Amino acid sequence: MISKQKFLHLGKEFLRLQSFSSNMNAKTGIVLLNMGGPERIEQVHDYLYKIMTDRDMIQLPIAQDILGPWIAKRRTPAVQKKYEEIGGGSPILKWTKLQGKLLCEKLDKISPQTAPHKPYVAFRYVPPFTEDAFIKLQKDGIERAILFSQYPQFSCATSGSSFNEIYKFLKNRTIPNGFKLSIIDRWPTHPLLAKCFADLIRKTLQQIPEDKRNKAIILFSAHSLPLKAVNRGDAYPSEVGATVHQVMQELNFSHPYQLVWQSKVGPLAWLGPMTDEAIKAYVKQGKKVLVIVPIAFVNEHIETLHELDIEYCKELAEEVGVEIILRVPTPNDHPLFIEALSDIVLTHLRNKIPVSKKFLNRCPHCVNVSCLNSKKWFSEICSL
Ligand code: FES
Repeated sequence: MISKQKFLHLGKEFLRLQSFSSNMNAKTGIVLLNMGGPERIEQVHDYLYKIMTDRDMIQLPIAQDILGPWIAKRRTPAVQKKYEEIGGGSPILKWTKLQGKLLCEKLDKISPQTAPHKPYVAFRYVPPFTEDAFIKLQKDGIERAILFSQYPQFSCATSGSSFNEIYKFLKNRTIPNGFKLSIIDRWPTHPLLAKCFADLIRKTLQQIPEDKRNKAIILFSAHSLPLKAVNRGDAYPSEVGATVHQVMQELNFSHPYQLVWQSKVGPLAWLGPMTDEAIKAYVKQGKKVLVIVPIAFVNEHIETLHELDIEYCKELAEEVGVEIILRVPTPNDHPLFIEALSDIVLTHLRNKIPVSKKFLNRCPHCVNVSCLNSKKWFSEICSL
């Protein structure tokens, strides 16, 4: 967690840099938004603390400022152990930096009029944070910043939380004259994203002996949401479903498939069926050849490397007697994925729609004043 002192220092630094003359070395900044993950074991507590006290992400029924830190402290040792088991930290920063670098190299070639492009990472719960990205951006004399959510499917708990955080950071700061800010909030059905997933699935299916390949069931697994959030109107479940359909269409509906949900925490009801329960149930039905696709993650992190690979594909699979279970890699630096990212940015620049109408419309049952204020602010400030 960033200390109050560091935050004040960063704030002053940002204000100081507002009078900085632009050096024009980098014209367009692509700000890659994600929740992030601890790179080192020592960061796990601060990471959990920030999640548990973020009311956009989690709404505890009472005293979140007391209960949240208590839960974070209590869960730290178990979560640290999981990070130890995947090599000591999350690779999400490594992948995001590489994706940003490859994306900007491609954009420099296909969009010379907005070049040079420079990537910035803004994570929600571990460094580099929003303020780190914006201070760099200002220092680099960026003329135009595109806030690019790295969640293909929009959820108010994830993408929404990142945008609310940016609003809170920028709302009392003067945006320099001529500076352009715009938003890419979701891209669940981008054709190249579907092609990328389809390619990864095909390659994984090839690893199954030919006589068993046709028996495989494709389980698309995405992080679940509390039903309370679903019933509030969160778009995420329908957008994940749209991605699944697009990918299966790309595969010509070659295999039976099912959308399942993972990573539930706490006693409340969450969106199901849960991934582990579905694996057990299919084995009971005699369907023991399974391919798991992390459909809402674009880079490897704890939910793929630990929950899917260790807890489900190894431990659970052995326990219930799965015959073959394979996990499809996340897009990472797949060339089709980098092409998808660059096409999304290029289309955004060409379409001249600085912020989507869907983003500006709140969930029908939203009671979060941060959503109200941030969407209003973005609608006034965004331009291309
Ligand atoms: Fe969805 Fe606020 S909870 S817009």
